[in-house]
Amino acid sequence: MLLNTGDYRERARRKLPRGLFEYIDRGTEDELALSRLRSSLDSVVLRPSVLSGHARREPGTTLFGRRFPTPLVIAPTALAGLVAHNGELKLARAAAALGIPFSVSTQSVTTIEEIRRAAQDATLWFQLYVWRDRTLTADLLKRVRACDCECLVVTADTQMSPNREYNQRNGFGIPFKPTLRNLVDMAVHPRWLLGVMLRYMLAGGVPTYGHYPAEYRSAITRANVQEAVRLETNLSWGDVKRLRDEWPGKLVVKGVLSIEDAELALAVGVDGVVVSAHGGRNLDCLPSTASCLSAIAEAFGDRMTILADSGVRRGTDVLKYLAMGAQGVMLGRLPLWGLAAGDEEGASSVLAMMLREMDTAMGLLGVADIAALRSPARWGIEAQH
Ligand SMILES: Cc1cc2nc3c(=O)[nH]c(=O)nc-3n(C[C@H](O)[C@H](O)[C@H](O)COP(=O)(O)O)c2cc1C
Repeated sequence: MLLNTGDYRERARRKLPRGLFEYIDRGTEDELALSRLRSSLDSVVLRPSVLSGHARREPGTTLFGRRFPTPLVIAPTALAGLVAHNGELKLARAAAALGIPFSVSTQSVTTIEEIRRAAQDATLWFQLYVWRDRTLTADLLKRVRACDCECLVVTADTQMSPNREYNQRNGFGIPFKPTLRNLVDMAVHPRWLLGVMLRYMLAGGVPTYGHYPAEYRSAITRANVQEAVRLETNLSWGDVKRLRDEWPGKLVVKGVLSIEDAELALAVGVDGVVVSAHGGRNLDCLPSTASCLSAIAEAFGDRMTILADSGVRRGTDVLKYLAMGAQGVMLGRLPLWGLAAGDEEGASSVLAMMLREMDTAMGLLGVADIAALRSPARWGIEAQH
C-alpha cells in the first residue's frame, strides 16, 4: 500500500537501478545537510486556532501575481526522463491536471518543445544552468521563450559539481560509462531496463541531455561533455542582471539562503527567490531552509515572491514553509518517487496525497486558507527528543 511518501520512496528503491535511485535519493559527502533538513522541519510546530468554525479549506496561492489552486510547484530535477520513459512529459501532465507549475530542468532528457507539445495546458517554468558559451545559452532561452514558459528559474547554488561519492561508487555519471557494477545493476532491474532504457534505445538511442545543442550533444555513453556546455563556474549578479534585461517573463533565483543575497537579487530586479538548500545535495555545511526562510520572507515578502524547497516529505512540511512566509513550495524528490513507483499515475497520486495531507492538517489547525497560515504567531520551534 502506498500510504505516505516513505512508501513511494521504498517502491522507487525497488524499481530503479541502485545508481539511479541513489542519484535521486541521497545527499552529498556525509549527508549532514540532508539530515539537517529533516531535523529542522521536525522541530517546527504549528499552533492551531481551535473552534474556528471553518467547514472548507482553500489551499490556493498567488505566485507572481497569478492565482494557482495549490501552493505546490514541481522543482526542476535533471534526468527525470530516466526515472520513467518520457518521465518529464508525464510529470508535466500530472502537474497540469492539478494546476501545479512544472519546472523543466536544463538537464532534462526531453526538450521543452516536446514537453510543451505533450502538455499544452501545463504551466511550464524553465530552470536555467548557464553554459560557458553564452551564445548557446541565449539560443536556448529563445527556444524556452517560444514555448510559452512563464518563469525562468536561475539556479545559483551549483557553480561547482558537488562531491557525491556514491555516484562514483555506483558508476553513475554523465556521460554514462559502462562498468561491470552498473551493467549488473541495470540487469537486475529488468522492469526499468526494458520499460525505460530499452524503449529509448529502440526509439533512437541512449537518452541524452535533450537541450544540449545537436553539435555538442553527447550521448550519455560518449566520453566528453564539451567545454562550451560546461556549467559556468563564475556566474555573478551581473549575469542575472543581464538575464533580467533579456528575459521578458518572471525571473527567479534559486538557492538563496541569506538576507544579503536576497537583497542583491531584489536589486537586480528579480521577481522572486527560492529559499533552497538544493535538497541537501550540493554543499554539506549549508543551513536548512527552515532556519533561513522566515527572516528572508519577513524582509522581502512584500516586494518579491518567496518560494521554498528542500526536505518536504509530508503535507505538514509544506504548511510549515508557508507559515514561515513562503508563498509556494517546490517538491523535488517526491514527484520522482511517484513517477518511479507508478508512472504518470504514481506522480499524480503522490501529489494528490500531499494535497490531502495538507487539507487534513489545515482542518486540524483551524485555518481556512494559506493567508491564515502565514503568520509568525502560527509557528514555533520545539526541540525533538
Ligand atoms: C534528482 C534530482 C535532480 C535535480 N536536478 C536539479 C536541476 O537540474 N536544477 C536545479 O536547480 N535543481 C535540481 N535539483 C534540486 C531540486 O530542484 C530541489 O531544489 C530539491 O530537490 C528540493 O529538495 P527535495 O528533493 O527534498 O524536495 C535536483 C534534485 C534532485 C533530487
